[in-house]
Amino acid sequence: ASHVEQDLVNVLFTEAQIRERLAEMAAQIEEDYEGHDLVIVGILRGAVMVMADLARAFGRHVEMDWMAVSSYGSGTKSSGVVRILKDLDSDISGRHVLVVDEIIDTGLTLSWLTANLSSRNPASVEIATLLRKPEALQMPVDVKYVGWDIPNEFVVGYGLDYRERYRNLRDIATLAPHVYS
Ligand code: PRP
Ligand code: MG
Repeated sequence: ASHVEQDLVNVLFTEAQIRERLAEMAAQIEEDYEGHDLVIVGILRGAVMVMADLARAFGRHVEMDWMAVSSYGSGTKSSGVVRILKDLDSDISGRHVLVVDEIIDTGLTLSWLTANLSSRNPASVEIATLLRKPEALQMPVDVKYVGWDIPNEFVVGYGLDYRERYRNLRDIATLAPHVYS
């Protein structure tokens, strides 16, 4: 076990900043969906923290469901083909769906996923993401709610991992190059 602090370069967003931004996003979402039933869909595993905090920032009822997906191929997402490892438990036909993830990187995961969910005849499908890397985008993704746009750097914490480590950090930080080089 190493000291986690030595692996991090720079804290981008603190726990308090994340909480504040999610509260703003939740307020906007509540306003936009007022009077409508809403199911939020978290994408395992990275979205666990943002789902937990966003859901609790709502003052309204919201249903929570989950999907787990994985890209085909040798560890890269370049194929753009996604496989469902765990599907929704609920039927979303006729319902308003908000997909929640912690980061959009190339956009391949959410571009495929929203197309997949749209084919199930929901009333609507929108995306909320805490982070987005505009420079890394390979597929156009129509995102309704974004916490922050960030540079194309390796970030960890608050659900974001590097080889399954650092997910449980409270802050979001950039990873020191010595860790991955
Ligand atoms: C990460 C992240 C997003 C996705 C974004 O998940 O949590 O879901 O990649 O990348 P993209 O925009 O390039 O598709 P990952 O598939 O690594 O699994 P995890 O959530 O279990 O960490
Ligand atoms: Mg993910």
